[in-house]
Amino acid sequence: MKILILGSGGREHALSWKLAQSPKVEHIFIAPGNAGTAMVGTNLPIDVNDFESIKMAVIEKEIDMLVVGPEVPLVEGIHDFFAGDRILSSIPVIGPKKNAAQLEGSKDFAKAFMMKYQIPTAAYATFTKDTIEEGKAFLETLKAPYVLKADGLAAGKGVVILDNLDAAKEELNSMLAEAKFGEASSKVVIEEFLKGIELSVFVLTDGKHYKMLPEAKDYKRIGEGDTGPNTGGMGSISPVTFANPTFMQKVENRIVKPTLEGLQKEGIPYQGFLFFGLINVNGEPYVIEYNCRLGDPEAESVIPRIKSDLVNLLEGVAEGNLDEKKMEIDDRYAASVVLVSEGYPGKYETGKEIKGIGNLNNCILFYAGAGNDIEKNVIKTSGGRVMAVTSYGNTLNEALKSAYANVENIEFQGKYFRKDLGFDLK
Ligand code: AMP
Ligand code: GLY
Repeated sequence: MKILILGSGGREHALSWKLAQSPKVEHIFIAPGNAGTAMVGTNLPIDVNDFESIKMAVIEKEIDMLVVGPEVPLVEGIHDFFAGDRILSSIPVIGPKKNAAQLEGSKDFAKAFMMKYQIPTAAYATFTKDTIEEGKAFLETLKAPYVLKADGLAAGKGVVILDNLDAAKEELNSMLAEAKFGEASSKVVIEEFLKGIELSVFVLTDGKHYKMLPEAKDYKRIGEGDTGPNTGGMGSISPVTFANPTFMQKVENRIVKPTLEGLQKEGIPYQGFLFFGLINVNGEPYVIEYNCRLGDPEAESVIPRIKSDLVNLLEGVAEGNLDEKKMEIDDRYAASVVLVSEGYPGKYETGKEIKGIGNLNNCILFYAGAGNDIEKNVIKTSGGRVMAVTSYGNTLNEALKSAYANVENIEFQGKYFRKDLGFDLK
């Protein structure tokens, strides 16, 4: 079969790398892809939100399945677009429809859903431009730190956590009255601050049945010890040591099952990857957020741990018989270190030649912001997050050691990475 994957990050390289290993696959196409996806398939220069061009490509390349990496096309309704099109409706889409993608697309929707189905999450209230004063009064009832969230998608920047009450009131005003995040902050969720350690849990579901994928932990801040600005992710590890069987049983019983049952009761079918952003508060899991996709950079440590044929599992999603499919997980640890361009997540330069790729051992390289310079026959940086280096190990330390040894061999001007992944788990 022929599969089209949408996206251009490390997650999509990991997906294409895995899917290309399936004996069921004839060819992988990636839109728009990167230098890494070009090694396992064919990149198509199409924007992930350009549905008409995606349709043309699907017809022309005789695509049999669409796998959606990032959230925006899902929240914008790519699955609905396929389902409602005479030619495309028979082609399975891995990724939920618009109404189910609201779990990520609207924090207010997600919170109301969790309340309705008694899924553990922080207490909250939602405010609009007309209720700013009530919002300020609500902030006064909370203790610092104050958590304010733009309702809609804001490119990962919509969550603001402040220690000072006046600053929190000002932020609320800026989001609602001044539309700091545009339409995304026309509603703002204010919630109780939860103290604990975070982890990411993923399930693959056909709407009725589900498989728990390996859990992971990502490292979002740019600086060591989780300091400095948030990034798209500086690395990930899987499994997570504190996610022991007792904890994961709580996650499954209190969070995963009620979420999937809630979606069914609401008449919202969900097909694809569902990502639970969780926090462990004294051994009890709470939901921080839902995402309607795999995480990036979590995918770069989670996907390498799936031993089974992922195409077979995705067929189970498409056909509604995921329960009949077997999934085998590699017991080893996987650690994935992200290399970024100097200056990221602020301003950074691109176009730097990447060298040393031939000297790597015992690792998998997943590209993100890296492109081919065909004329010069070299790979150059093209983004802030350039690549992820993933290694396995029998222990977390072994996996990290192997990934870091390889990181040293890769060179590009301005290379930066965090040296302390896993520091909070040892
Ligand atoms: P999100 O964009 O929803 O992932 O939120 C960004 C980050 O803000 C999360 O990864 C958490 O670190 C933090 N965060 C969000 N909500 C809360 C909360 N209620 N309590 C503590 N931290 C939070
Ligand atoms: N790593 C977090 C995310 O993908 O949203």
